[in-house]
Amino acid sequence: MKPKIYITRKLPEQIIEGLSRNYDVRMWDQEDIPVPREVLVEEMKEVEGLLCLLTEQIDESLIEQAPNLKIIANMAVGHNNIDVQSATKRGIMVTNTPGVLTETTADLTFGLLLATARRMMEAEDYLRNGKWETWSPMQLTGQDVHGATLGIIGLGRIGEALAKRAKGFDMNLVYFNRSRKYEQEKELGIEYQPLEKLLQISDFVCVMLPLTAETAYMIGKEQLELMKGTAVLINTARGGIIDEKALYQALENREIWAAGLDVFEEEPVPLDHPLLTLPNVVTLPHIGSASIATRMKMATLAVQNLVDGLSGDTPRNLVLL
Ligand code: DGY
Repeated sequence: MKPKIYITRKLPEQIIEGLSRNYDVRMWDQEDIPVPREVLVEEMKEVEGLLCLLTEQIDESLIEQAPNLKIIANMAVGHNNIDVQSATKRGIMVTNTPGVLTETTADLTFGLLLATARRMMEAEDYLRNGKWETWSPMQLTGQDVHGATLGIIGLGRIGEALAKRAKGFDMNLVYFNRSRKYEQEKELGIEYQPLEKLLQISDFVCVMLPLTAETAYMIGKEQLELMKGTAVLINTARGGIIDEKALYQALENREIWAAGLDVFEEEPVPLDHPLLTLPNVVTLPHIGSASIATRMKMATLAVQNLVDGLSGDTPRNLVLL
């Protein structure tokens, strides 16, 4: 009997072709609708391998209902949707897809920074809604990006890739990280600062951290109060790192100037979310890694990790506790 695999979202044919030679593959057949929890629970009863997305909560209760499960391959670099501790306790491997999405996510982050600083979405609406009647001196004016100070919170792969882009805009670079990155400091000319200082001196603050117990709500009222009144906050990492209520207050009261958000604590973000009512918020639907090439690479890597794990090899992207 072939080992059973479950894939929680419809993936392109070329990604999964060949898998059925060695595995009994079942896949949720919708592209834009997540697998219902009860379907997933049912499927988990027999599977040895699970390929999932960040939209599935692979928690302890689900893991307990999967007696044959050997590996959970997440098609994302972030793995806060998986209870890695519970999986590891039961000897189940967890993998992610780092590396392949670094540049694409850094591109989007810098794009969002530019769009927020220069009010691009607001300006487009202005034009399309027939408000553009003349050119005027202070119309839709924003913040300069060139020469400004960029504070990167979390100098991992994507943070570094972002710093490289910012260098091209002659930005001054500072970072906060739980450990110093001496090599990158030299290479990129980026300076370490304690978080409080970074928040005080940066014109742009980009959150580039994984969501963990330590980073949850790391940016709250107290941190936002330290930021400049002209500062822009960008988050393309995970919503739960910023306290959205505090952010709403800071933006509404113009304690900070604007925010660009690709991620939210609850996704999809409810349309009546207060942050969506503010003109100084630019929002995107979690598309940091969404280029065709990168999404194909992520899916391919997730499948590779799954196959490696099931065939007794150590997957290249094992998540360690
Ligand atoms: C990830 O990989 O964690 C991103 O959020 C989606 O690409």
